[in-house]
This record gives sequence, structure tokens and C-alpha cells, in this order.
Amino acid sequence: MTGRLQGKVAIVTGGASGIGAACCRRFSEEGAQVVLTDLQEELGQQVAAETGGWFMRQDVTDEVGWESIMAQVRERHGRLDILVNNAGMTSRYSIEDLTLDAWNQAMAVNVTSVMLGCKHAIRMMKTNPGGPSGSIINLASIAAYLGMPDAAAYSASKGAVRLLTKSVAVHCAQQYGKIRCNSIHPGAVDTPIHQSRLSQVADQEAARAGLNRLQPMGRMATATEMANCALFLASDEASFVTGSELLADGGWLAEGGIRNLPQTVGNR
Ligand SMILES: NC(=O)c1ccc[n+]([C@@H]2O[C@H](COP(=O)([O-])OP(=O)(O)OC[C@H]3O[C@@H](n4cnc5c(N)ncnc54)[C@H](O)[C@@H]3O)[C@@H](O)[C@H]2O)c1
Repeated sequence: MTGRLQGKVAIVTGGASGIGAACCRRFSEEGAQVVLTDLQEELGQQVAAETGGWFMRQDVTDEVGWESIMAQVRERHGRLDILVNNAGMTSRYSIEDLTLDAWNQAMAVNVTSVMLGCKHAIRMMKTNPGGPSGSIINLASIAAYLGMPDAAAYSASKGAVRLLTKSVAVHCAQQYGKIRCNSIHPGAVDTPIHQSRLSQVADQEAARAGLNRLQPMGRMATATEMANCALFLASDEASFVTGSELLADGGWLAEGGIRNLPQTVGNR
């Protein structure tokens, strides 16, 4: 099927890399006009050139920046149909090693950004020509369900995204009917987010094998598999889906959670 997002305008944060870049590619293949934002300008421009999208530099923790992005999208496109709150960071400290700065940074990048994105997207979506409508998709994680001992702030941040999503979903359903909000919960996905940790271990092959083993399917997901989840939630096929958690973890949680959890690598 093609044209599943024909005529829609989408903003994807963190669109320069990994899952965000894959969302830009899938969304544009399905007919959306894509606006991607990121701190990484060169990569962002490359994804924009490849997808026919529009790149803007944005720090998602900055509310003034959100206001500016929305004003520019309104001026250029006159509507907003999809927001993917995808930008995020890993944070790998146990509660005993966690500094207040590291905690605040993880919360700002992974949670405050999502709150700001939802707030400013709704302002625009409720004034869309034809009446209020839109789909907000928040990237959470399997970490929202598990007590990961070496990722206290990361787990807390993704747990917060999970319930923030539901609050936004119910508010929008009651107030605006057709504005939806859902979260996606990946297991381990093969993206650059793992690279800084992988580069610190001697045996990278073994470390990657460890990440693959986390999932009963025996492999990490591809970024495109996550983008396909976002595509469904973004499309009108998901018109009655709001406040839901799309778990896409290769069976990790169904198996009961933490097995073979590597202490040395990666974000989940
Ligand atoms: N890869 C995984 O295994 C995995 C698993 C579960 C959840 N997730 C979540 O999926 C999302 C995307 O992760 P990814 O794996 O594609 O990572 P990635 O590192 O490839 O991409 C994340 C992007 O976000 C951008 N970013 C970070 N901080 C930003 C800020 N303050 N302002 C603007 N942009 C910022 C980065 O520059 C980067 O381009 C994240 O929210 C992550 O927590 C990833």
C-alpha cells in the first residue's frame, strides 16, 4: 500500500539518526511532507535531502525553540498532522552512581521534551483546517516496564513518557476527539545510540551478540521496523487507537523481562 500519509504534515524530532531518520524515510515514502529536527545539522540535512523533507536545528528541551518550530511549520504548511517525539538519550547509571546533573539531563531530554512537544503540537493540531485532528507518537522503551539496575534515570524517564502519553491521550479524546497520542516501546534497536557504549568494550562482537540475545527473536530490531510501528499510529488506519502502548520488543517482555542483560553495553 502507498499513500498512507498522503497530504499529511509530520514533524519528527531526532530525525537525523536511527529510528527518527527511518520514520522520515517511511513517512515520505507514504506521501507525508516531513519536517525533521535535531541537534546534528549535517546528518539532518542529509536526511532532508534524501526524503525531500525540511530540516531545522532544534534542542527539544527548549520551549522557545518549540514555539519557533511550530510558527515556521504553520507559515510553510498551514497544518500539523503528526508529531513523533523521538529525540532521546541513553543514561546508564545505577541509583548509587547517578548524579543530579545526569538525572536532570535525562529527564530534560527524554521527558520534558515530550511534554513540550505534545503541548505545542496540540495547539496547532486543534486549529487544523477541517477541524482538530492529529497523531502524536512518543518513543518510550521496554525500560518503562523493567527495573533496569544500571539505568535508573533512563527507566524513570521512559516510565514517565508512558503515563504522560495516556494523560495527553485522554485529554485530547475528551476535548478534541480526533487528536490521538500513543507510545511505542522498542526493545533493543540497532541504531547509533548504542555506539558510544559499544566502542568502550574490547569484544564488540560479543557485546552485539549480547544485545541480540535480549530478545527471544535472537536479534535487535531494525530502525525501519520501529518506523513501521510509527507509520501505523500516524495513519488513519489507527483512527480509534489512542492512549495505547505499542510494545515492539521481539518478545522480550513476554518472556518475563531481564535475561542475559549485559552490564556493559547499550541503551534499551
Ligand atoms: N535504539 C534502541 O535500542 C532504543 C530502544 C528503546 C527506545 N529507544 C528510543 O528511541 C528514540 C530514538 O533512539 P535511536 O536509537 O534512534 O537513537 P539515535 O541516537 O540514533 O537518535 C537520537 C537522535 O536524537 C537527537 N537528540 C538527542 N538529544 C537531542 C536534543 N536535546 N534535541 C534534539 N535532538 C536531540 C540525537 O542527535 C540523535 O540524532 C529515543 O527516544 C530512544 O530512547 C531506542
